[in-house]
Amino acid sequence: MEEKKRSSFSGRIGFVMAAAGSAVGLGNIWRFPYLAAKYGGGIFLLVYILLAVTLGFSLMVSEIALGRKTKLSAIEAFSTLNKKFKFLGILASAVPVIILPYYSVIGGWVAKYMVVFMTGGSAQAAQDGYFSQFISAPVEPAIWFVLYIIATAVIVLLGVEKGVEKASRILMPLLVVLSVIIAVYTSVQPGALEGIKYYIMPDFSKFSVKTVLAAMGQMFYSLSLAMGIMITYGSYLKKDGDIEASVKQIEIFDLLIAFLAGLMIVPSVFVFSGGDESQLQTGPGLMFEMLPKVFDSMPFSNVVGAVFFVLVLFAALTSSISLMETVVSIVQDKLHWSRKKSSIAVLIFTIAVGMLSCLGYGPLSFISVFGMAFLDFFDFISNSVIMPIVAL
Ligand code: TRP
Repeated sequence: MEEKKRSSFSGRIGFVMAAAGSAVGLGNIWRFPYLAAKYGGGIFLLVYILLAVTLGFSLMVSEIALGRKTKLSAIEAFSTLNKKFKFLGILASAVPVIILPYYSVIGGWVAKYMVVFMTGGSAQAAQDGYFSQFISAPVEPAIWFVLYIIATAVIVLLGVEKGVEKASRILMPLLVVLSVIIAVYTSVQPGALEGIKYYIMPDFSKFSVKTVLAAMGQMFYSLSLAMGIMITYGSYLKKDGDIEASVKQIEIFDLLIAFLAGLMIVPSVFVFSGGDESQLQTGPGLMFEMLPKVFDSMPFSNVVGAVFFVLVLFAALTSSISLMETVVSIVQDKLHWSRKKSSIAVLIFTIAVGMLSCLGYGPLSFISVFGMAFLDFFDFISNSVIMPIVAL
């Protein structure tokens, strides 16, 4: 980071696209729908939107402003405010370190499904039990995970993020278009109406503290808040940018993609499960279990599935690149290592820690941390514990 001399974004669009590229990712497409399904559908959606436009909005504005004012990255920015806040900077930096490994595990799942559809495996992927068989296998998920994180590391090491970001400027709008088509398709299937109702109409009897906690954790996650990312982006911003207008655009994009992903996935539980609503509780595997069923019932299922997962892979990559860069710059700042050495160290660390999450559903499934599989545990500690503390 330091050698880059804090280059500035050329214009407001550049800033918005970079921040949106970091915000829009698996959080929107993979995490949001399974949480919405689990925590009561419409009521979760409502609480989430309310939180995002109030707390989320002001937090993002203040993070960006903090970065712009101090022109520093997270750790130093907090300590500039007040020496006592230094530990917040450290906590905030711990979050991407925890997220990157398991994020890459999910990224690997996406890559696997992309290849399955590319090779004409739509019918197979749509079968019950296909996903659970895949993630509980001893070797295959680990291979996809390692491939994914190596791809991320190569992009970071070669410094070709700009190219990926450029590609994603074209691909992200495509993702929106394809998502609309798939969501409309799901919505007109028999049985979908009940699912749409569940997803959109708030049922206040399902409201609980858990709904709020889950929605808040998701808001931090999806908007990349409370982990120094937005502070870093803010530090590249010129003095005269209109922060509030930019944040509005980033939030609209982020909400739109999450909402569409939910609309594709949540009602499909009602369409394809034959009335078995316990499937709403599936958790992290929901997208990988439901979407292949949706695709397989469509014409050109392999093409639709392949294109969809390519787009998701790009959304995921732009986020994991940004995550990895954050971690690398923390290592660089702290240990004064070169960028290359830091990147390789981060890669090795990520593979080691991510392997726990990866094998946590298979060979290591006998181990649980506070009753959770590794991946769920890392997800919980970062989004539901550390981030709220930093944000407060
Ligand atoms: N917001 C990203 C998503 O929705 C995930 C994420 C969380 C992230 N924190 C981040 C991405 C920090 C980049 C940097 O998928």
